Amino acid sequence: MTTPGGRAVEVRVPATSANLGPGFDTLGLALSIYDELTVAALAPGELDIRVEGTGADEIPTDASNLIARTVRYAYEAVGRPAPGLMIRARNGIPHGRGLGSSGAAVAAGLLAAKGLLAGEAELGDADLLRLATEIEGHPDNVAPALFGGLTIAWMDESGPQHKKLLVHRGVAPVVFVPDRTMSTSAARSVLLPEVSREDAVFNVSRSALLIAALTQSPELLMAATEDKLHQDSRAIAMPETYRLVRVLRDAGFAAVVSGAGPSVLVLVDGPGGRLDAARVVEESAEGSWRAHMPAVDFKGGTVKAPAEGALEHDI
Ligand code: HSE
Repeated sequence: MTTPGGRAVEVRVPATSANLGPGFDTLGLALSIYDELTVAALAPGELDIRVEGTGADEIPTDASNLIARTVRYAYEAVGRPAPGLMIRARNGIPHGRGLGSSGAAVAAGLLAAKGLLAGEAELGDADLLRLATEIEGHPDNVAPALFGGLTIAWMDESGPQHKKLLVHRGVAPVVFVPDRTMSTSAARSVLLPEVSREDAVFNVSRSALLIAALTQSPELLMAATEDKLHQDSRAIAMPETYRLVRVLRDAGFAAVVSGAGPSVLVLVDGPGGRLDAARVVEESAEGSWRAHMPAVDFKGGTVKAPAEGALEHDI
């Protein structure tokens, strides 16, 4: 027996920015830019996907759709046959820009499966993170997409783990998103296979400092966002991003490559800082960069029963 046709859930997942400078493949921050979905069970084998919003034209609506694949993956993981699926997605997260759109799709598919499976099988937080990491390959985007806030993610012999932290209220993110995209695999292909002990120590010190800066001492953000593990080697793949990070840092803003790029994340520590950073970008940047000024999302992904009439909403 599979989930009965007609059972439906509503899911919302935040964008995420991974790495935050020194915390490569480890740190992530959830941002209040969202993908929202309604997912309903259909008769087995049926599939009806429609997407609207940011990047909708590029998203497959057949069985290769990442959300649909993830729902099936979750059902398989708990040993239940997957139902057919109706998916209505309203996307706010830009795709291929280093803002965790694929991690968000994976988190959304798992949360949808959790909701649809309610009463049939249990998917707890540890299961969600484990399955998400199996699909995504690294936990730094999926941990904040699922759980919100600032997350430290790591792997041990029992799988991926995470610790969620609350961000100091004086820290505000601003993201500059270019027109062009960058694939994570291309951005990973230019990474150096080895790093020196000196550089490793540099990043250990900055990552530790970054936790203090983001939770207690925002005035340390400049020093705490320095990195020698990945951003310099990625400059060749995204020179405009690299130059914008330099321009912003030279102007005193704690700028880093967002995830695998090509967006730039700035973490400011004062109320006017975001507009000041946007002014610097407007005056000095090459190409066009769209500024987003989200809050830190503290909730992470959510799944609930649909509001009355939600399934009639045809997009
Ligand atoms: N930590 C990953 C990377 C994030 O930088 O490749 C990709 O979203």
